[in-house]
Amino acid sequence: MTNPRNISLSDDNQSLCELPVLSGTTGPDVIDVQTLYKQTGMFTYDPGFNSTASCRSTITYIDGDEGVLLYRGYPIEQLAQQCTFLEVCYLLLKGELPDSGQLKEFQYNITMHTMVHDQLTNFFKGFRRDAHPMAIMVGVVGALSAFYHDALDIKSKKDREMCAIRLIAKVPTIVAMCHKYSSGMPFMHPKNKLNYVENFMRMMLATPCDEYEPNPVLVRALDRILILHADHEQNASTSTVRLAGSSGANPFACVTAGIACLWGAAHGGANEAVLNMLEKIGDVSRIPEFIAKAKDKNDSFRLMGFGHRVYKNYDPRATLMRETCHEVLNELDLHDMKLFKLAVELERIALEDDYFIEKKLYPNVDFYSGIVLHALGIPTNMFTAMFAMGRTVGWIAHWDEMIADPEQKIGRPRQLYTGADRRDIPADHVKTSL
Ligand code: SDX
Repeated sequence: MTNPRNISLSDDNQSLCELPVLSGTTGPDVIDVQTLYKQTGMFTYDPGFNSTASCRSTITYIDGDEGVLLYRGYPIEQLAQQCTFLEVCYLLLKGELPDSGQLKEFQYNITMHTMVHDQLTNFFKGFRRDAHPMAIMVGVVGALSAFYHDALDIKSKKDREMCAIRLIAKVPTIVAMCHKYSSGMPFMHPKNKLNYVENFMRMMLATPCDEYEPNPVLVRALDRILILHADHEQNASTSTVRLAGSSGANPFACVTAGIACLWGAAHGGANEAVLNMLEKIGDVSRIPEFIAKAKDKNDSFRLMGFGHRVYKNYDPRATLMRETCHEVLNELDLHDMKLFKLAVELERIALEDDYFIEKKLYPNVDFYSGIVLHALGIPTNMFTAMFAMGRTVGWIAHWDEMIADPEQKIGRPRQLYTGADRRDIPADHVKTSL
């Protein structure tokens, strides 16, 4: 960290104010503009927050130019290869990797909370069977706050830890229930003897008539997919969770707000959109037609799974996801899977195209994840719910950090007002009666 320094702001050579410059462990310094309005009567303007740091955080660091992603300082490549998702959950929540005793206790606590209150099943009955799983997730995860009044004091560290355990443990059960409900199948209860991912895959794919024998290669692949989705700094859904939490809303409501935001096709909805796009392209011969549409300013079509607000280099998660894709397709003898070959060819052509090179558009985490999930037998409309399952720990880690942050206050951005100036209602306005 460099020595504290100030930056001067002047207008027509007249000094307006001095603003402190803050440095972090690594990455860009920030100009602390908290006193800007008080000193100058002006706001900053940054729609989309391209150049705005919303908080201090110790959880995740991204270098978009270098394609670096660190969870609590550890490179995503090492975590994906050497850790399990629950180890990464512990790391994101506590700041350090667990020792064997800590991990055993954490795994036990998660396992003991995988069941949901039996009355929660009634919430599903209100949805049409063809409701999008993310619509059901918003409803059912939001309803969790109606069940756990015993531990909703957000000022209590113990309650916050219990909320984290309950969310990490119950979201997979709810995701599996969404799938079972939409397919008209009975819900499967968790089995405590199974590990986190085996339990989820069994609840998703087993029926009361057939047991599901987890394939260790596929279990490891899904565990890695959850690690890759676990956190990603101040992305749209995490920022939504932080903003909701800044009002004092309970963590179940905040995570529900994150789920709603993640659903958008520009964000977590992209994995479902990628698969739908690949199916629409259908054949490598049609790739040039879709590349041209993506480049056409008058066409709203975008190449789903490409581009990123932060990564202007290859998303390191996309590299790991492509490797996982190879492993799963080889294990399932699907390596000649048409969709995968189409995706590889689409990536090759796009990365050689000047438009994508000039705009630094590379595949992101969503480009290959849909193909892997499809190969694992997960229905396309469940893909974003899978993303939410991985990201729940990131959301709750940021929510917890925000609650404990002494600088934290309710989030309340201002605006550049461009509407009508003050005016009176016309004298001939006829007062409407109630
Ligand atoms: C996720 O923030 C995160 O960290 C998110 C995430 C996470 O883990 O939480 O990483 C997960 O959301 C990944 C992104 C998934 N979304 C998609 O794959 C949808 C397709 N991508 C685009 O919608 C877009 O790239 C965004 C939304 C991801 C990023 O949009 P930005 O930062 O606003 O970038 P931009 O729209 O300003 O793009 C810059 C230029 C634009 O052209 P110009 O206005 O400069 O002429 O690139 C173009 C865009 O039109 N562009 C694309 C494109 N993405 C950007 N053109 C064609 N296809 C695309 N995919």
